[in-house]
Amino acid sequence: MMNAAAQAVLAKFAASGKETCFHGRHIEPQIYADLNGSNWGLKDYEARGGYAALRTILGKDGGEGLTQDAVIATLKESALRGRGGAGFPTGLKWSFMPRQFPGEKYVVCNSDEGEPGTCKDREILMHNPHTVIEGMIIAGFAMGACAGYNYIHGEIFRAYERFEEALEEARAAGYLGKNIMGSNFSFELFAHHGFGAYICGEETALLESLEGKKGQPRFKPPFPASFGLYGKPTTINNTETFAAVPWIIRNGGNAYLEVGKPNNGGTKIYSVSGDVNLPGNYEVPMGTPFSTLLELAGGVRTGRKLKAVIPGGSSSPVVPADMMMECTMDYDSIAKAGSMLGSGAVIVMDDSRDMVECLLRLSYFYQHESCGQCTPCREGTGWLWRVVKRIHEGKGRPEDIALLDEVAGNIMGRTICALGDAAAMPVRAMIKHFRHEFEAKIAAAAQTSAVAA
Ligand SMILES: Cc1cc2nc3c(=O)[nH]c(=O)nc-3n(C[C@H](O)[C@H](O)[C@H](O)COP(=O)(O)O)c2cc1C
Ligand code: SF4
Repeated sequence: MMNAAAQAVLAKFAASGKETCFHGRHIEPQIYADLNGSNWGLKDYEARGGYAALRTILGKDGGEGLTQDAVIATLKESALRGRGGAGFPTGLKWSFMPRQFPGEKYVVCNSDEGEPGTCKDREILMHNPHTVIEGMIIAGFAMGACAGYNYIHGEIFRAYERFEEALEEARAAGYLGKNIMGSNFSFELFAHHGFGAYICGEETALLESLEGKKGQPRFKPPFPASFGLYGKPTTINNTETFAAVPWIIRNGGNAYLEVGKPNNGGTKIYSVSGDVNLPGNYEVPMGTPFSTLLELAGGVRTGRKLKAVIPGGSSSPVVPADMMMECTMDYDSIAKAGSMLGSGAVIVMDDSRDMVECLLRLSYFYQHESCGQCTPCREGTGWLWRVVKRIHEGKGRPEDIALLDEVAGNIMGRTICALGDAAAMPVRAMIKHFRHEFEAKIAAAAQTSAVAA
């Protein structure tokens, strides 16, 4: 039985017949509002209210303008939480920047988007790049930064080119550069493309890479707010986080908060993939029931039942179907279910899926992407993959489940960056919820070897 919210959106969509990459199956979209797949340019963005927030801040709309403190206070009120994975409150992060620090300060946008299942940032860059640019300029103003960089995943080169085109437009229109719109605020913005390493999405590895070095995470502290790009105070946010900022300034922090739910303001774009009829990006308010999101994505593959969901990208622990159907899509509800909203990549698995095989693919990814700096991650991710592989190949040993748990436990909390935890958490969650599938494969292996003997 389809729920009412999904039914209403799908009926509207059917009536409009709009079938673009912005398929119309969004609820109260803010970032995707009025996009049609081709209206990414400056004139169209301005017609949608673009750069009005910047005008307001700089007092170029007849008003007095906003102070840096007022902008940060609005962000705090909005309850916008970082869309890159950890869900850290954006206003609070901006307030950590030492604004009085003399010399350069930087704002960096993380468009590395390498988390398996996530494909929203590239769509924002392709189809609404000016909202990211405006969001970054506002961030630069609020934190007293002189320049910004957008680090874009190397394998989405078209998105990088599109962002460069949009930057040219913004520069020509006077939204970037010296004394923006005749104010005393100056801000430069540059695009930089990486080469596709997942680890370069980790913020300090990204900074290393941006500086032209090997993309390996730094020890923390110091954190980027005090020692970031070129050793200067730096604030890093995800593409979708910056993209949300102009709407918040135009409509007010409270309006954004009210679209979502307490502590989880606004809308969120979910990349729904796997065993659904209509995979794609869906923008819905924070707190939307998972069941509604699933309906928008066309439901579970025809003829199949929902088995489990990875709700926030491959690093987030798997959640069994019955628990997931009780969840709403926000940081707090998913955390209560023992997982994380992460980057919002919702990977749907139906009842045909072999969970050992699913874990094999995940653990292959992490051992391949480990940068190798710390021993627990470098050695441990390899062990996890090899043990899951032998279980999958019917060569598992009775002690293997305990071994997987032990290796995962030896990685967690013992590494320089969160990739170690990201590799270990899915293993523990798969064993917790689907232990019987691992045991069945190991028992079958024992039977085969007994017969052979
Ligand atoms: C291994 C690893 C990969 C990451 N990849 C990304 C990424 O592709 N994009 C992103 O925005 N954040 C990524 N993050 C999180 C960033 O380190 C950082 O927390 C984020 O960019 C902060 O932005 P936010 O506060 O707007 O979420 C990754 C973290 C880790 C540990
Ligand atoms: S946890 Fe892994 S990816 Fe992160 S720094 Fe250590 S070895 Fe590199």
